[in-house]
Amino acid sequence: MKNKIFYPLFCLVFAACSKSADPIKISSIADKEYEPQKWQANYPAEYELWEKTKEPTPAGKSYYKKGWDTDGKIYDKLSEFPYMPLLFKGWGFGIEYNEPRGHYHMLKDVLEVDSARRKAGGVCLTCKTPYAQELRDKYGKDYFSKPFETVHSWIPKNHRELGVACVSCHKGENADLRILNDFTLGAALRNMNFDLKSASHQDMRTLVCAQCHVTYVVSKDKEMKSQNVFFPWNNSKYGKINIEDIIKTIKSDPANLEWTQAVTGFKLGFIRHPEFELFSNQSLHWKAGLSCADCHMPYVRYGSYKVSDHRVMSPLKNGLRACVQCHSQGEEWLRDRIKFTQDRTVSMLIRSGYSTAVSAKIFEKLNKARSEGKNIDKNLYDKAREYYEQAFYRIVFIGAENSLGFHNPQETLRVLADASSFAAKSEALLRQAAAQAGIYLPEKIDLELNKYLTDRGEKKLNFDSKVEFKDPFKIQDYF
Ligand code: HEC
Ligand code: HEC
Ligand code: HEC
Ligand code: HEC
Repeated sequence: MKNKIFYPLFCLVFAACSKSADPIKISSIADKEYEPQKWQANYPAEYELWEKTKEPTPAGKSYYKKGWDTDGKIYDKLSEFPYMPLLFKGWGFGIEYNEPRGHYHMLKDVLEVDSARRKAGGVCLTCKTPYAQELRDKYGKDYFSKPFETVHSWIPKNHRELGVACVSCHKGENADLRILNDFTLGAALRNMNFDLKSASHQDMRTLVCAQCHVTYVVSKDKEMKSQNVFFPWNNSKYGKINIEDIIKTIKSDPANLEWTQAVTGFKLGFIRHPEFELFSNQSLHWKAGLSCADCHMPYVRYGSYKVSDHRVMSPLKNGLRACVQCHSQGEEWLRDRIKFTQDRTVSMLIRSGYSTAVSAKIFEKLNKARSEGKNIDKNLYDKAREYYEQAFYRIVFIGAENSLGFHNPQETLRVLADASSFAAKSEALLRQAAAQAGIYLPEKIDLELNKYLTDRGEKKLNFDSKVEFKDPFKIQDYF
């Protein structure tokens, strides 16, 4: 209890109160103490807030990230963006792809999601359990390649549902920030010649999140068994990881192509939740020196002292408390700015997504014609495929990034503008190839969206099915 008395004193003396006050310790905590309850006695506030991530977040506050709010509905990306089930058909993401929810649930949600999403094997646990590094050290290649259920059973029984825990971000001894997943983030940073020892305190307040809120590649062996997981930043610099480099790294090795897209038959890679990459690529807030924790873990009052809010969530859902510490414009103005950016992102994402889907459907037609003996110009076809893939990876990148553009508005629109032009170029080349081969293509390609949305295999989600199919190519102000 003594820590409760010393902490406010510290805060009075140092107005900012920006670092762990090193409260008097009640019990000592092992460096790698996995059990959060062992941390609770020393840090009751952080524990209580961390545990609150199991509660649903308030409904009706966020415009687009209606994750798992108190309204009880599950929102999934596939019905929010109907071009996605078409493009992702062929593997797990095309079956179930939900909006995120509180940290407490991360491992439980993997256990509950459609089993197609766990097919990659044990490797899926990398961002879902604090034991990933230990399992990988102990079991080596088996950690990646053995079935998910097998590797999951290697976690101690009482922690088989434990997601991100104190140990993931803190050293036991003094609660200093640390990176637990060395084989992923540690390796990726070394690859970019970024020395963790030279990381500033602000860097660390971002890097703890970058253990998971990043894209990754699950590379495959000849039998398509998972053999490794790594972050595709091979050509990048810290603070400048861009989509061009990510695509280049993915395409540099066939082992990085994780699945076969049903509609085109192409083997492709994938991009997941690149929050760190988009934010740290020269965004205004990054350049102004902000970290993830500045917006997602603002100080909250706990009794008579202040702690970092470990109930991590969308800033829109907690009254933009973080933002108003720096911005005097007030909550309404800020909410409006967030919506302004997100509306524009969604408009362009939908348009570029549908454009890419149009190319995919034309590939399907040309592939069919070719299998029936038609001669399709190889040069045109290959060029169209290259443009198509460039568009595809860009829309997956922005579609998977969870802020809908807010983390870096300018970069988001640049990436989507490029996606649109690559998709249009691909379509033009495909139409030229079709014309040369005497294949008729209607002006408007039927995307059969309803088919892809509803035909997702065994398990049907209880998703909001009132999907509105607007015509993305109708000329209007914006979508
Ligand atoms: C060990 C991996 C891991 C770490 C470290 C991590 N996250 Fe997460 N985060 C996740 C996963 C997985 C989800 C989705 C959970 C689900 O849907 O079950 C998530 C969800 C979220 C959400 C959505 C919450 C909601 O209520 O919908 C936010 C916001 C978030 N994380 C921010 C952060 C920030 C900021 C940090 C760093 C301080 C961080 N995360 C560190 C894995 C991680
Ligand atoms: C996803 C990463 C993450 C997890 C999980 C996490 N923390 Fe933190 N924690 C942070 C960050 C970031 C800060 C801010 C640190 C700073 O600026 O020095 C912080 C700050 C703290 C501090 C310093 C005082 C304060 O509140 O600012 C303590 C103590 C602490 N955390 C304890 C815990 C405990 C106990 C748990 C588990 C119940 C936990 N943390 C889980 C990221 C995390
Ligand atoms: C300048 C403030 C700011 C910074 C810095 C910031 N974010 Fe965000 N983040 C936001 C806003 C605003 C949203 C949009 C929330 C919404 O639409 O409900 C968001 C959304 C998210 C979401 C989705 C939340 C949900 O409910 O689905 C995640 C996950 C996330 N951010 C993680 C991160 C990570 C990781 C970092 C650092 C790499 C980071 N953010 C940096 C403000 C910020
Ligand atoms: C630690 C301080 C800090 C926090 C916290 C912060 N910002 Fe900012 N924000 C800045 C700075 C600095 C700028 C650069 C422009 C300026 O000086 O006003 C900026 C710029 C902006 C802009 C203008 C950007 C543009 O492209 O026009 C918006 C909008 C904005 N912030 C919204 C938010 C929102 C929403 C949050 C909370 C989710 C937030 N900020 C949190 C410091 C902060």
